[in-house]
Amino acid sequence: MTVDRSVLQGKVALVTGASSGLGRHFASVLASAGAKVGLAARRTDALQALAADISASGGKAAVTRLDVTDSKSIAAAVAAIESELGPIDVLVNNSGTSVAKGVLEQTEQDWDDVVDVNLKGAFLMATEVARRMRDRGQGGSIINIESILSFRQAGHVAPYAASKAGLTQLTRTMALELARNGVRVNGIAPGYFATEINQGFFDTEPGQALIRRIPQRRVGQYEDLDGPLLLLASDASRYMTGSTLVVDGGHLCSSL
Ligand SMILES: NC(=O)c1ccc[n+]([C@@H]2O[C@H](COP(=O)([O-])OP(=O)(O)OC[C@H]3O[C@@H](n4cnc5c(N)ncnc54)[C@H](O)[C@@H]3O)[C@@H](O)[C@H]2O)c1
Repeated sequence: MTVDRSVLQGKVALVTGASSGLGRHFASVLASAGAKVGLAARRTDALQALAADISASGGKAAVTRLDVTDSKSIAAAVAAIESELGPIDVLVNNSGTSVAKGVLEQTEQDWDDVVDVNLKGAFLMATEVARRMRDRGQGGSIINIESILSFRQAGHVAPYAASKAGLTQLTRTMALELARNGVRVNGIAPGYFATEINQGFFDTEPGQALIRRIPQRRVGQYEDLDGPLLLLASDASRYMTGSTLVVDGGHLCSSL
């Protein structure tokens, strides 16, 4: 899609997990819509390369190291981005991880690894940024990257599905509490997109079988998320809060 460069002019956005996959793409799209973009992740070398690409296309980006499981790292990363780019208007809470194993094989450590990033990390990030938005009184938009596994089930992803369902409820409860502060909290629930999190899966027979169950018979292309992302990031969605936009080629309404 052709992005209107003025949609997010003057806004500052922060994207977590911007070093790869969907997060990298979200950061580029927000920059092409005119936002100054904070790039946060553990792999800062990948972020530096992305920042260079954004500035080569006429945008502005700042890089910070971030581990979303560590509240001190979060506070430092948010402060660093705000001091370099200005107050954050848009947070894309994108960091995520998964461990693919049968539920009886998942260990306590596997559970903690997944839930600490996908749910606790998203909560810590969203509250750190929302507190600043509330204190400034200018509002803002928080976009949680959920999943169709918030709503339906699949094998071998129990901690992931539980954490994403929790994140969807966190979206709604934060939306309820923060509406009076002008802070909107919405989610995007992607269907299946080929990234590091599911590397190689779509080349396997189970992966191909999964694609045959998607009504549009294909996995998502990153650009399929651009419209929902820009809608939720911009004032075009000013009367939306507590919503989750499902972007899945019809997967959630597939036939039983
Ligand atoms: N790819 C899909 O099919 C799909 C579907 C639904 C939802 N999602 C969600 O989209 C988001 C992006 O995933 P992706 O598919 O691009 O995979 P990805 O593995 O490429 O991206 C995940 C990002 O999260 C970062 N991350 C992991 N742990 C972190 C931590 N402790 N601190 C900071 N960053 C951390 C990783 O470094 C990486 O940049 C995730 O929340 C994922 O659950 C993906």
